[in-house]
Amino acid sequence: MNNRLCQMFGIEAPIFAFSHCRDVVVEVSKAGGLGVLGMARAHADRVEEDLRWIDAHVGGKPYGVDILMPSTYEDVAQVDIDALPPEHVAFVQRVLDDAGIPRLPLEQADAAARELLKGLHITPRESLQMLEACFRHPIKLIVNALGSPPKALVDRAHALGIKVGALAGKTEHALKHKAAGCDLVVAVGTEAAGHTGNISSMVLWPRIVDAVAPLPVLGGGGVGRGRQMAAALALGCEGVWCGSIWLKTVQSELTPEIRTKLLKAGGDDAVLTKTVTGKQCRTLRNAFTDAWSRPGAPKTLPAPLQNMLWWAHGRTRVERAHVANAEAFLTYPVGQLVGDMNEESSVRQVVLDMLVELSESKERLDRMLG
Ligand SMILES: Cc1cc2nc3c(=O)[nH]c(=O)nc-3n(C[C@H](O)[C@H](O)[C@H](O)COP(=O)(O)O)c2cc1C
Repeated sequence: MNNRLCQMFGIEAPIFAFSHCRDVVVEVSKAGGLGVLGMARAHADRVEEDLRWIDAHVGGKPYGVDILMPSTYEDVAQVDIDALPPEHVAFVQRVLDDAGIPRLPLEQADAAARELLKGLHITPRESLQMLEACFRHPIKLIVNALGSPPKALVDRAHALGIKVGALAGKTEHALKHKAAGCDLVVAVGTEAAGHTGNISSMVLWPRIVDAVAPLPVLGGGGVGRGRQMAAALALGCEGVWCGSIWLKTVQSELTPEIRTKLLKAGGDDAVLTKTVTGKQCRTLRNAFTDAWSRPGAPKTLPAPLQNMLWWAHGRTRVERAHVANAEAFLTYPVGQLVGDMNEESSVRQVVLDMLVELSESKERLDRMLG
């Protein structure tokens, strides 16, 4: 392929891959797409190490990074674990008690919460530190999630020849990204893994394409194969933004336990919930999301308190339990595509299959349309 995005980034196919896993990023870029490393769970030193590794393995191919700069967020530095409401703590304790997950001493739960706070690294200050590390590497694209990138960031990136994009689940978001100086918009439908809105890709993509024209748009949310890529292109997108599909590859970061659970899951098992981060997020259904959807469950807390609640009072206990019933609590962000992800593959194979099916779709359409 050779459209505007291929030329903009020097890639062979406009397949943009979000992944927290550097191996996936490298493999996608080597297969002709553009790997984008998610930095939400990292910190400046880790980013430096990962990008050095990518530079050494990517063979000069282009890649990008994805950063979380939320427009609204409680100042994590101000948040203390004592701020967690006792009613919520008791609720999580009860859910785990009912499942037979052994209790943790209170000090251990508190220590886990403090570790989590140290590891969150998603305040604008920390995101900027990570970006500083990125600017020392030959990144070609910065994508921002949860808001429009600040002007200073866009200007700095542009001065270095780096393109900037941002995720949008609504037309209003997309217009703000355009006004902020973004070079492209990623329109993400509700089908997607992670933080997502309520509008489906089928409806959202053409809406955003029209709203931000002539900016190029990547279609994200539910793209894992060539027919879905063909649909995105038919709806006016110039490329695709895929996240979930890489989870089924041998290169992905999943532990064997989550991998097994994910490959067995159906499309309905990717639920929208605020129980993980406090913001609406699509993740693999589990005993915790089930408990919060039952009548009588407390309202979820705002970010990052909900995250801390689960981590400190839930996840650490589950991870330490190592018992069969802990499996029910395992989860991972994943989109509705999970229902089609039934066997392992490799990143290269996913890209090749996508391009072959895209080409077949074009031929079928050509035949139908005459
Ligand atoms: C495991 C996982 C973690 C994700 N974490 C982030 C993130 O930290 N930042 C972000 O911008 N998007 C994140 N996403 C969402 C992707 O950027 C993308 O919008 C989404 O995966 C596209 O829809 P799909 O899952 O149907 O392919 C994540 C996706 C997955 C699968």
